[in-house]
Amino acid sequence: MELRGPRVLLRPARPEDAPDLFPFACDPQISHYMYWNTHGSIEETYAYLENLAAKEAMFVIEVEGKAAGVTGMQIDWENRLGETETWIGQPYWGSGINAEAKVVLFDFAFGPPGLKRIQSLTHIDNSRSQRALEKLGFKREGLLRRYRWIGGEPWDVYMYSLLPEEWMSSRPPIYYP
Ligand SMILES: CC(C)(COP(=O)(O)OP(=O)(O)OC[C@H]1O[C@@H](n2cnc3c(N)ncnc32)[C@H](O)[C@@H]1OP(=O)(O)O)[C@@H](O)C(=O)NCCC(=O)NCCS
Repeated sequence: MELRGPRVLLRPARPEDAPDLFPFACDPQISHYMYWNTHGSIEETYAYLENLAAKEAMFVIEVEGKAAGVTGMQIDWENRLGETETWIGQPYWGSGINAEAKVVLFDFAFGPPGLKRIQSLTHIDNSRSQRALEKLGFKREGLLRRYRWIGGEPWDVYMYSLLPEEWMSSRPPIYYP
């Protein structure tokens, strides 16, 4: 499946994305807050992409023909909820790509698949990610103490959520140039 916005294309991961994404996957400022370790060789990026391609709702974010990052969600169909997960290469931070990718992803997720909640967990120190979520209308529900075991340590995380009726008013506009 592919989802399109004015600047972004969300599409399944391909091995050919490795050269674009490897430099970002080596960046500790990105991997520090993710569930995977900083990549030490491009072979790790190939393996990561193979794994990503097998997931039902995870996408590479393509911008001007280049892979810029990854977004998507793990879906709990029984409860109709999606847990979103995103990382983007630093050259694209602050560019609006994150918001645009979320708009096309959430418009779809709250549409035909009928999800009733999208949630996101962020490390308590990840202020940038928290701000990015709040700009999209996510509400901070609370602190989950030692909720995830990542990189050999327990993580305290904030739980954020977004409901479809809130998305109608919080959804940022995206422009078609
Ligand atoms: C999280 C991520 C996808 C967000 O994308 P982005 O392009 O950086 O997000 P935006 O620029 O739209 O929004 C970030 C906001 O945080 C603000 N910000 C930046 N540093 C900040 C800080 N230290 N504290 C608080 N806010 C901060 C920015 O100013 C911006 O707000 P503004 O538009 O009102 O000025 C991206 O930063 C990323 O990939 N980070 C590394 C991986 C990661 O943490 N993923 C999320 C895991 S939960």
